[in-house]
Amino acid sequence: MDKLVIHGKKPLKGTVEISGAKNAVLPMMTAALLTDGITIINKVPDLRDTRTMIRLLEIVGAGVEFENGTLKIDGSTVNKLEAPYDLVKTMRASFYVMGPLLGRFGEVKVSLPGGCAWGPRPVDFHLMGMEKLGANVTLEQGYILAQGSSLKGAHICFDFPSVGATGNVVMAAVLAKGTTVIEHAAKEPDIVQLCEMLNKMGAKISGLNTSTLTINGVDELNPVEMTVIPDRIEAGTFLMAGAALGDITLNHAEPDHLKTVLDKLEEFGAHYTTEPGKINIKKADKVNAVDVTTEVYPGFPTDLQAQWMALMSITDGQSIVTDTVYHDRFTHIPELNRLGANIFLHDNVATIQGTKSLKGAQVMSTDIRASASLILAGLMAEGQTDVSRIYHIDRGYEKIEEKFSSLGAEIYRVSE
Ligand code: EPZ
Repeated sequence: MDKLVIHGKKPLKGTVEISGAKNAVLPMMTAALLTDGITIINKVPDLRDTRTMIRLLEIVGAGVEFENGTLKIDGSTVNKLEAPYDLVKTMRASFYVMGPLLGRFGEVKVSLPGGCAWGPRPVDFHLMGMEKLGANVTLEQGYILAQGSSLKGAHICFDFPSVGATGNVVMAAVLAKGTTVIEHAAKEPDIVQLCEMLNKMGAKISGLNTSTLTINGVDELNPVEMTVIPDRIEAGTFLMAGAALGDITLNHAEPDHLKTVLDKLEEFGAHYTTEPGKINIKKADKVNAVDVTTEVYPGFPTDLQAQWMALMSITDGQSIVTDTVYHDRFTHIPELNRLGANIFLHDNVATIQGTKSLKGAQVMSTDIRASASLILAGLMAEGQTDVSRIYHIDRGYEKIEEKFSSLGAEIYRVSE
């Protein structure tokens, strides 16, 4: 397994290109299964997760070509309506094939995703939505079997604005007969782009950027060409690095997707300027402890919670970080404390007592964003930090050590 070796406290300066958004492109890739033509998607990041989704599309029979960030997906050869356990257990987003295959072919068999590093991740909202649309949903030896040859529009209300359930149910509803209304829908930019793609394919979805989506079913959808939006979570990660260590300009970034995060970075003491597609951030002269509570979009994203904790570790005050989306997403805390952070957790509320400086150590990644948090901490720490099990980071960050090295960081990959 690879590890990253970091020699910290190097100033960061320069420009970094933000990749396409992982959490937008994954459902867009499965949306290509809704049509029998060739869908083209540009600015696709080369990640473990996008490679996993390519494998899944090939398993169901789609033709896939991936070159220089452009994906071509041929939905005309889909012939296997099943997502196997061995693949789904490595990536929960595999569950996104359920909506398209059920919607287009009337049946699908998907392995129930297991939990993840930080706890159970149920799919009950996804299944409730499919049943409301008229599918018969059963569980057989760890697989969800959904059958429904003629789905009908329904009124669906989620208990929580789930990103995945919203995307999955929209993709099942676009070919259903009649009108579907989804209340308490997710508004993340990833879901907005998915709906924009489906509308470009011929779907009739209204209410984008609101909590209520209305879908009028159509008979068929056509293949389209799309370009993935910038990854706001990768951008937020680099913004925090710049706020602590230097002067960084992000290219191919969307400031509108990061308003809450930019406000919090200003409170921290950093200075930023924006122009269309770009954000510049300069380090804080004096760093302030700033409380954060994660919320669904447009609130502070849970996917930046771990990274924010690393940043708060170097302030000289006390801050409170609360995660309201996942109450158990804190496996990074003991690892940050190995670097000299002083973080105490009670339920889903972490208290961070800032310290003058972190000290390098050996630490272990546990999930994508925890890894990013440990890399940030290593870049800010005195001495050497070794971050192991970085296959986690490779799931969601493209060429992360090259990008940080180009900004002046001393960071390199070592095979263990
Ligand atoms: C998406 O996961 C993202 N993944 C996650 O990013 C992100 O953390 C999450 O949304 C929240 O923003 C992708 O888009 C591929 P949810 P998803 O359904 O869709 C509960 C990363 O690091 N819930 O919005 O799985 C759930 O337990 C990843 O890139 C149910 O109870 O998240 C959680 O508490 C990690 N039942 C809350 O809703 C359900 O059926 C939000 O989950 C579905 C969800």
